Amino acid sequence: MTEKEQALAELEKIRSEALAVLADVADEEGLEAWRVAHLGRNSPVMGVFSGMGKLDKELRPLMGKAANEVRQTLEEALAEKRELLETAALQNMLTTEKLDVTLPGRPVDRGRLHPLTKVLRRVTRIFGDMGFQVYRSPEVETDDYNFTYLNMPPYHPARDMWDTFYTKRDGVLLRTHTSPGQIRVMRERAPEPIRAILPGATMRYEQLSARSEIEFVQVEVLVIGKGVTFAELKGTLDDFARRLFGEDARTRLRPSHFPFTEPSAEMDVGCFVCGGEGCPVCKETGWLEILGCGMVHPVVLQYGGYDPEVYSGFAAGMGIDRSTLMRYRIDDIRHFRNNDIRFLRQF
Ligand code: DAH
Repeated sequence: MTEKEQALAELEKIRSEALAVLADVADEEGLEAWRVAHLGRNSPVMGVFSGMGKLDKELRPLMGKAANEVRQTLEEALAEKRELLETAALQNMLTTEKLDVTLPGRPVDRGRLHPLTKVLRRVTRIFGDMGFQVYRSPEVETDDYNFTYLNMPPYHPARDMWDTFYTKRDGVLLRTHTSPGQIRVMRERAPEPIRAILPGATMRYEQLSARSEIEFVQVEVLVIGKGVTFAELKGTLDDFARRLFGEDARTRLRPSHFPFTEPSAEMDVGCFVCGGEGCPVCKETGWLEILGCGMVHPVVLQYGGYDPEVYSGFAAGMGIDRSTLMRYRIDDIRHFRNNDIRFLRQF
């Protein structure tokens, strides 16, 4: 045998032996072992490549080509075998494993609206039906908007009723009511007439209790125009109360005082728990207070950019938390912001 014949025979042996072993491989693990043994760095084919230096110079190109062919054949055989094994494994799974597609799925936990959101949306819709626009105004306000422009100049004692949290920036605070929004809407719209509500969060520096929180939700109502009178105030707010509490809800206005309105009033609605007879919810009075209101004070109109000689208007502010407490007979206002799922699930 010539050196060439011997080398080729050697290669042929490597090829046929490797293929013979591959035929007996039955699983993924065996396949990997075979790959390492027959195509890995220390495998016989790779040995042929590294031993090339010892061969006769003329033989090298021929042997290189032949060895490459063997390696390629083995790689193709490996890929083929791998596919064969995978198909067999899948087939096996399909015939032996059972999948019951009729089993019920896992239930999805459905969220729900927070009770405050529900009431707020009802209030918004009622005013929307009456032609009011909804405005947003900032929760972080300036001292001027929260107090001065609402007719409470610095050091005015009325400011004590709206004590709040102050930021480190001079004159910047958390708003204690939605009323500052009145000024913002007026400044945006003057001298056009206004019919707007402003819902949103408000903050107060208060002792936490079952009836008061440091954060709560208010809705501000503002109407500005020529010849707006107290009759419009009463008509609009009565209408609102009946739409919210039912066609036969009774209302009454009590004289009150706010620096930003003149005259001022508070509106009560007949207690819907006892029907007006007196119970713990209405503190035996038969009435529940729902909002403060009044004719916009001339000073406020001026700060808003309206001439009080020409324009007039009314405003109201209501707390959503209290009405929600009453509506759902919730005994503690602090439940609203505890995020206890057991509480929230009930609505
Ligand atoms: N801002 C008042 C408060 O939080 C409520 C209020 C009263 C708003 C009378 C008004 C109003 O617009 O006219 O106590």
